[in-house]
Amino acid sequence: MRATLSSWACLSLSLLTCSWLCVTTENQCKIRNQVADCSHLKLKQIPSDLPINITALDISHNQLNKLPPENFTKYSQLTYLNAGSNTLSKLHPELCQILPLLKVLKLQHNQLYELTDNVFSSCSSLMELNLGYNIIKIKNNPFKNLKNLSILDLSHNRLLSTKLGSQTQLESLRELVLSENRITELKREELDFLSNTSLTRLDLSSNPLNKFHTGCLRAIGNLYGLVLNNMKLSENDTEKLCLELSGTRIQNLSLSQVQLSCIYKSTFQGLQTTNLTSLNLSKNYLLTIENESFAGLSNLENLNLEDNKIYNLTSHSLYGLSSVKYLNLRRSHVRKIDDFAFRWLSHLEELLLDGNSFQEITPNMFTGLDNLKYLSLCNWTNGLQIITNKTFSSLANSTLQFLNVTKSRITKIESGAFSWLGHLRILDLGLNEINQVLTGHEFKGLQNIEVIYLSYNKQLTLTSKSFAFVPSLRKLMLRKVACSSLDISPSPFHPLQNLTILDISNNNLANLKDDLFDGLHRLEILDLQHNNLARLWKHANPGSPVLFLKDLLNLHVLNLKSNGFDEIPVQVFKGLFQLRILDLGLNNLNLLPASLFDDQKSLNSLILQKNLITSIEEKVFGIVFKNLKELEMDSNPFDCTCESISWFVNWLNVTQTNIPGLDTHYLCNTPSKYHSTLVMHFDISPCKDSAPFKLLYIISTTLIMLLIFIVILIHFEGWRIAFYWTVSVNRVLGFTEIDRQQEEFDYDAYIIHARRDRKWVSKNFIPLEKNDQSQIRFCLEERDFEAGISKFEATINSIKRSRKIIFVVTEHLLKDPWCKKFKVYHAVQQAIEQSRDSIILIFLHDIPDYKLNHALCLRRGMFKSRCILDWPAQKERVNAFHQQLKMALKSSSKIH
Ligand SMILES: *[C@@H]1O[C@H](CO)[C@@H](O)[C@H](O)[C@H]1NC(C)=O
Ligand SMILES: *[C@@H]1O[C@H](CO)[C@@H](O)[C@H](O)[C@H]1NC(C)=O
Ligand SMILES: *[C@@H]1O[C@H](CO)[C@@H](O)[C@H](O)[C@H]1NC(C)=O
Ligand SMILES: *[C@@H]1O[C@H](CO)[C@@H](O)[C@H](O)[C@H]1NC(C)=O
Ligand SMILES: *[C@@H]1O[C@H](CO)[C@@H](O)[C@H](O)[C@H]1NC(C)=O
Ligand SMILES: *[C@@H]1O[C@H](CO)[C@@H](O)[C@H](O)[C@H]1NC(C)=O
Ligand SMILES: *[C@@H]1O[C@H](CO)[C@@H](O)[C@H](O)[C@H]1NC(C)=O
Ligand SMILES: *[C@@H]1O[C@H](CO)[C@@H](O)[C@H](O)[C@H]1NC(C)=O
Ligand SMILES: *[C@@H]1O[C@H](CO)[C@@H](O)[C@H](O)[C@H]1NC(C)=O
Repeated sequence: MRATLSSWACLSLSLLTCSWLCVTTENQCKIRNQVADCSHLKLKQIPSDLPINITALDISHNQLNKLPPENFTKYSQLTYLNAGSNTLSKLHPELCQILPLLKVLKLQHNQLYELTDNVFSSCSSLMELNLGYNIIKIKNNPFKNLKNLSILDLSHNRLLSTKLGSQTQLESLRELVLSENRITELKREELDFLSNTSLTRLDLSSNPLNKFHTGCLRAIGNLYGLVLNNMKLSENDTEKLCLELSGTRIQNLSLSQVQLSCIYKSTFQGLQTTNLTSLNLSKNYLLTIENESFAGLSNLENLNLEDNKIYNLTSHSLYGLSSVKYLNLRRSHVRKIDDFAFRWLSHLEELLLDGNSFQEITPNMFTGLDNLKYLSLCNWTNGLQIITNKTFSSLANSTLQFLNVTKSRITKIESGAFSWLGHLRILDLGLNEINQVLTGHEFKGLQNIEVIYLSYNKQLTLTSKSFAFVPSLRKLMLRKVACSSLDISPSPFHPLQNLTILDISNNNLANLKDDLFDGLHRLEILDLQHNNLARLWKHANPGSPVLFLKDLLNLHVLNLKSNGFDEIPVQVFKGLFQLRILDLGLNNLNLLPASLFDDQKSLNSLILQKNLITSIEEKVFGIVFKNLKELEMDSNPFDCTCESISWFVNWLNVTQTNIPGLDTHYLCNTPSKYHSTLVMHFDISPCKDSAPFKLLYIISTTLIMLLIFIVILIHFEGWRIAFYWTVSVNRVLGFTEIDRQQEEFDYDAYIIHARRDRKWVSKNFIPLEKNDQSQIRFCLEERDFEAGISKFEATINSIKRSRKIIFVVTEHLLKDPWCKKFKVYHAVQQAIEQSRDSIILIFLHDIPDYKLNHALCLRRGMFKSRCILDWPAQKERVNAFHQQLKMALKSSSKIH
């Protein structure tokens, strides 16, 4: 049970820590592709549970004090065993018998002190043996059976001599490292055990070596490389050493840091009979190089003179170095280089002169360097000041491709300064003090130039022609050159149709035209960070926002960090479909317009850190977040409310995007309840059901709509509402009509008409009374009013005694003050009090509704259609009208 549990624990641990290929044992060794890494595990025992087919085992940095052969029997396939950095003091000769395939054995940093003759007797397949950093003293022949050994490291031991055996052996050895021992002399008989060996490298560095006995190095079968760094060699020792090397196959000789202060003609004489190709003389106190000291080193290809004190390089110092391809004179305190000093080096391809302090470049300084490809003249402590059209004239015959003159206090480049360098591809003028208007002629003649670095100079003023002579340019760096305005037409970049990288960052740039980058269809990287472009994208910018990115169809990387942007026009990134990296960090952005990033579907990396962003909404980021691999949006004042970040938190839960600092630098700012809590800890469960909010939204919208409806209704139909309202109120308050019977009324209708219509009324209504069997009785003012009572009273009484009220609507009626003010009012009042639909309108004239309303406060719409009658124009319709009138008079007056 416990075993199962622990293996389960192991399995899960291994799943956590390793990829699928690797398995972890109980000892936590990492096993991958038959390689077991058991280092740094404080092991005291050889792990016994590793797969038996492992071929490499690293048990270094543990606490093993022996390597018992029987504990390796399982691992007989091992070809590599690293037991370094343990506390081994003894080796068992049987180890190699158990591990017959072993090729590499590393035992460095142990406490081995004695190697018996048979200790490696079975290790004939061994190719590499590292015994460095032990306390070994060699007696007899411990290595004599290592017939295939190629590399033997015995550095940092207690060897007193080079003698590793008394008989010829180690035929296959290529590298022998004996550095950091106590070897004082090289004797022939102490190296002749290597008489059948071809060494490519013998390292004797850091030994107190001061005596080279005659024939010592010739005792070695072949010696191709000798390293003697970091010791003290006098001039005489060096000379003797070189004599000992004469006639050998030596190719590489390193004498770095050997305190060699002078080189004489005789110093390297011994090397003249060799094929030496590489000589390292760096870090010496080399002061004097006697003329023609290197003569005879005609095979030398690499000469390193870095970090010396060679003050004067005369015209013959380098005489004879006709094969040198690489010359390093960095920081060699060279003050003066005579004219034609390099003329001997006709094969030189790379010349490094950084960190020196010449007075000037003389007209023939580089003459003869016809094969020079790479020239580095950086960190010129005296200062190059002005580059004239003469400065590089001595390179006219070269095919220089790379020129680096950074940090050389250049203040001005004159017209035609590089006209000699037609092959130049890369020109680095950065970190100088150039202060000038670039007219374009500075770069005349650079017809193959691809890269120009001008970054970090004092002040460069660009003009439309600045780059007119270098249309082949691919990369242009103008960072921090105090070029604060690019308000130039036509744009200085227009000739650069091949440009792929442009850096104009850190310029405090505030002014540019929207066509600045037009035509740069190959531009892939644009650096505009640390400028002052905020105004250009403001809504309020005169002449609308400046959309200067619009033509950069192939842009991959855009850096707009730290520009003070607080507004972004929605169309600013439109068309930038290729954009992979967009940096908008360190600005003042708060609200980003919806669909701002809609064309950035393939963006990999979006940086918006240190802005004022409060909310992360789907309508802005939904599309751009889809393929994002990295997002940096930390240090914004996030508003931890459902509306602002719930979509973001949801996205965090499912995304694979790398978001550095998510668990430290994405903090809520508002509301105060969540201040300084982590955004990723924001609980979105209450947001998931947004129904309450939706409901609230719906209710409030409905209410507002309703209110608007009511207002409109009241405005246009208010009268009708008021009318029905009053009617209803009357009914409720008890003015209810007792639907009086026909008999209760004295008249069928009271007729209201204008005085001027009297004749028409008499003519048309009185005959109706007579003709009709139904006995209709109208109340006519003139005829039926009781005598003796006032006209007011009479009118009121008559209206009360009539079942219906007929209005004879004419233009006259509308103007008749008596009718308007009194009769109509009472008629309507009556109708209201009795809750009766008792009014009939007869229109003699065509009166529009608004006039009717205006004059009498009545509208057609107040009445049932059958109660509105129009006096027919044609005579033959009068009968029909009478019929309609009768129907209206007979209709019930109840309001339903
Ligand atoms: C070697 O194996 C034996 C028995 O398996 C064990 O007791 C011993 O501790 C092991 N020694 C080392 C150094 O692993
Ligand atoms: C090595 O052995 C392990 C089991 O111990 C086995 O899973 C693996 O396939 C073997 N590898 C090879 C290359 O034989
Ligand atoms: C070097 O050798 C010359 C003669 O060969 C001798 O005069 C000189 O003293 C020697 N210098 C040193 C430092 O041993
Ligand atoms: C130097 O090289 C040449 C040609 O490769 C060869 O003939 C000559 O033997 C070499 N000299 C020495 C000392 O190795
Ligand atoms: C270098 O040459 C100048 C004269 O050109 C001379 O004054 C000076 O002593 C020389 N320095 C060395 C170290 O040879
Ligand atoms: C520049 O040169 C000076 C003096 O030669 C040296 O001390 C300094 O380290 C150099 N700086 C660089 C960056 O190479
Ligand atoms: C170099 O510039 C000078 C003026 O400064 C001019 O007279 C001369 O012709 C120019 N030389 C070349 C080769 O352009
Ligand atoms: C360039 O080569 C030509 C012809 O070989 C020669 O006349 C001229 O002096 C050389 N110029 C330089 C600066 O090396
Ligand atoms: C020019 O040299 C400087 C300093 O040595 C180095 O930093 C820079 O990268 C070099 N320029 C190029 C283009 O390699």
